[in-house]
Amino acid sequence: MIVLIRAAFFVILRVAFLGYIIIILGGEKVNREKVIVIDFGGQYNQLVARRVRECNVYCEIYSYKTDLSLIKEMNPKGIILTGGPNSCYETGAPTYTKELFELGIPVLGLCYGAQLMMFVLGGKVTKAAVQEYGKTEVKVEPSSPLFTGVAPTTICWMSHSDYILEMALGFDVVAHTADCPVAAAQNKEKNLYAIQFHPEVLHTQEGSKMLFNFVRNICGCEGSWKMDAFVENTIDEIRDKVGDKKVLLALSGGVDSSVAAGLLSRAVGKQLTCVFVDHGLLRKNEGDEVESVFGANGSFELNFIRVNAQERYYKKLESVVEPEQKRKIIGEEFIRVFEEEAKKIGVVDFLAQGTIYPDVVESGLGGESAVIKSHHNVGGLPDFVDFKEIIEPLRILFKDEVRKVGLELGIPENLVYRQPFPGPGLGIRIIGEVTAEKVHIVQEADAIYREEIAKAGLDRSIGQYFAALTNMRSVGVMGDERTYDYAVALRAVNTVDFMTAESADIPFEVLQIVMSRIINEVRGVNRVFYDLTSKPPGTIEFE
Ligand code: XMP
Repeated sequence: MIVLIRAAFFVILRVAFLGYIIIILGGEKVNREKVIVIDFGGQYNQLVARRVRECNVYCEIYSYKTDLSLIKEMNPKGIILTGGPNSCYETGAPTYTKELFELGIPVLGLCYGAQLMMFVLGGKVTKAAVQEYGKTEVKVEPSSPLFTGVAPTTICWMSHSDYILEMALGFDVVAHTADCPVAAAQNKEKNLYAIQFHPEVLHTQEGSKMLFNFVRNICGCEGSWKMDAFVENTIDEIRDKVGDKKVLLALSGGVDSSVAAGLLSRAVGKQLTCVFVDHGLLRKNEGDEVESVFGANGSFELNFIRVNAQERYYKKLESVVEPEQKRKIIGEEFIRVFEEEAKKIGVVDFLAQGTIYPDVVESGLGGESAVIKSHHNVGGLPDFVDFKEIIEPLRILFKDEVRKVGLELGIPENLVYRQPFPGPGLGIRIIGEVTAEKVHIVQEADAIYREEIAKAGLDRSIGQYFAALTNMRSVGVMGDERTYDYAVALRAVNTVDFMTAESADIPFEVLQIVMSRIINEVRGVNRVFYDLTSKPPGTIEFE
């Protein structure tokens, strides 16, 4: 998704990935222990990896098409097979060679992965008489190393229509439910474990404990994946790589590019130049906040160039009402501005990007791709800047890890926990033509909304929230006067992956305070709506 988002913003960036070398930093040289997740098309592949990392164990996701020789070469401390939508006994279903289970490396199969393990090793998997879906009571065998510290009866998340009818030779049942005789099985001697339910989802109450038991106790990982160590290693690696050369980064003020800027600055200081384009479509005070952190008076050593391009953008956007047209103009103008600044700097050796791990995973899985790591065309590499190599210091991190790195580096919390914000900014939160006056209205309304959400303690629990300016004007009365003003729409959604979303349940009192403050404090607004639409059928943004 994030790839799509970026692609949408850099709508006319030409992808020129062949011929460039991408530098994947973040400990490539460090000989770290890792667990790998082999993905069979399950919806929770990233979640599994994140949960493993929460146990302080580094984890990467690979497609089931990844060659066994590559896995041997990686020498992981453990292997986890994910769920997936197929039936393992059907022809053409994703599978893996039996040799995977003979490497002497502990393997944990989850749902489809559990069934596949049994099937490949000679057990029987078939359609279950009773499908299980949702929270289910599971009775576990506490003496199993997988369930150390887990209550004998525990709630787990089931989602399966096939089940293990006969286990492969050497396996014992270590958990069952009323309808599923093999909810978990183990071959302790060979360190092979199969779980029919999903320990990675939060509905499985003791799921984290089970994954911890697997990666830390069964695989024997020490738990050395910590963000302070990542920061130190990555800084060393950047220094080694960059030497005395120059690095250029387009800083948007978003979390990823800000944390990338912080890391690069700590590593190479003034050899880094960050270009921050203020297109006049940022949230209230956002431009100044970014400058206060990364500018001359901030706490990072780097060359900071702020381009105040507001007028230029407003002019280009005059009379433009079509959303895609707006996106295109904003994207093109960004490139023009960035290009002009890059030309002034001259040849740079490295162009830095804030690519993060979900971008890599989402661009690399499926299709014929065998190994995620070979996919370097993430985000679209600009070919309008004269550079030799791409450097991506956050490429192996999940978003929550990027945030931790940001805090380690001393980037302020308000920036590190910043709301997701679209590249075209307020341009797509103002329905219809964008004008300086409308930008001002939406900035003010949005600032009030964010302030009240924070006051109510909801700012970290809602996925994304913002105010937008509808193109609707209606009659109202203020004091004794008739008004004919705009309506502001408040949006707040909860979402896992931004592909679907539900409107957030904000207490009515909070909405009332926001409404009353916006009407009283923002000139030009006489109505406030709360958008209840989920996605689909709506989208998160209004345009
Ligand atoms: P939609 O509106 O498509 O939004 O439901 C999903 C997520 O994507 C963000 N978004 C964008 N981000 N450029 C971006 O960088 C865009 O053109 C764009 N459109 C939507 C949106 O904020 C939400 O997080």
